[in-house]
Amino acid sequence: MFGKNAESVQKRTLIDFRKMKDNGEPVAWITAYDFPLSQCAEAAGVDMILIGDSGGMVQLGYQTTNPVTMDEMITLSKSVRRGAPNTFLVGDMPQGSYEVSKETAISSALRFVKEAGCDAVKCEGGRRVVDKVKAMVDAGILVIGHLGLTPQSTASFGGYRVQGKTVATFDEIMEDALALQEAGIFSLLLEAMPNAPAAKVAKKLKIPVYGIGAGDGVDGQLLIMHDLLGLYSGFRPWFAKCYIPQSISSYLNHIQSTEDVRKLGREEQSDGLGFIAREAIAAYVEEVKLHKFPGSQYSYPIKPEELDNLKKSKYW
Ligand code: KIV
Repeated sequence: MFGKNAESVQKRTLIDFRKMKDNGEPVAWITAYDFPLSQCAEAAGVDMILIGDSGGMVQLGYQTTNPVTMDEMITLSKSVRRGAPNTFLVGDMPQGSYEVSKETAISSALRFVKEAGCDAVKCEGGRRVVDKVKAMVDAGILVIGHLGLTPQSTASFGGYRVQGKTVATFDEIMEDALALQEAGIFSLLLEAMPNAPAAKVAKKLKIPVYGIGAGDGVDGQLLIMHDLLGLYSGFRPWFAKCYIPQSISSYLNHIQSTEDVRKLGREEQSDGLGFIAREAIAAYVEEVKLHKFPGSQYSYPIKPEELDNLKKSKYW
């Protein structure tokens, strides 16, 4: 049976996230973009929700995240806040909302906080945007950095490619990470990196370092809701586990214990897809907390010779 009752949910704070890193308790983080699935995520006991600009693809149907606007992000974020009133929410700054100037960055970030009730924002990039990140931090906004594969600039990587496998790309990531930490981000997300280099970044930084497709040596995991539920018909990355097969059996048990199937969806109004989604998200939360996900099955491999070479980095 899934997570927590709405009344027992306590919103996490910055202090909790720091303590969790110190105590080795992984953070279970998921994306959401709408009211019903954010209700499921809160009930399943996630530590935080990202309203990702990936919503542009999985929810709004764009081919990439690049067309997503601030107004669209605010609408998605407001609906998530209504669905998950007691969960730490992170608004993802879409392309164009923070790179142009410090003023634009601060006013976009403040929209997430003031209009949508977000607790923090996330933006992609390292040293190239560090002055904007510092300006947001100085304005009192909690900021999460995002390095490794950064979808808004996939063109500059030559497509969706695993990052941090060579000394040159690992050093770039380390230097960006240290600059962002210095600018005051409270945590960092690494995307699409093999376990060893991502774990090394997590170890070198004082702040919590989370991963999506970055192995299990980091301080927490993020998954895209629509990958976890098998709801997106486009690309599914290698590390994205679909939790529906294992939640179907608990659904079947649930309906077998229901004497009158006509009552399904009436007496308990989220007895259908809502039940299955909560079970699936709760299974993910449990596997993260027990260090079962991602494991080697859902992590990018690295060849022994690539790893030996990486150890030559001055940051290793
Ligand atoms: O938009 C998003 O969901 C993200 C993740 C891919 C990390 O930024």
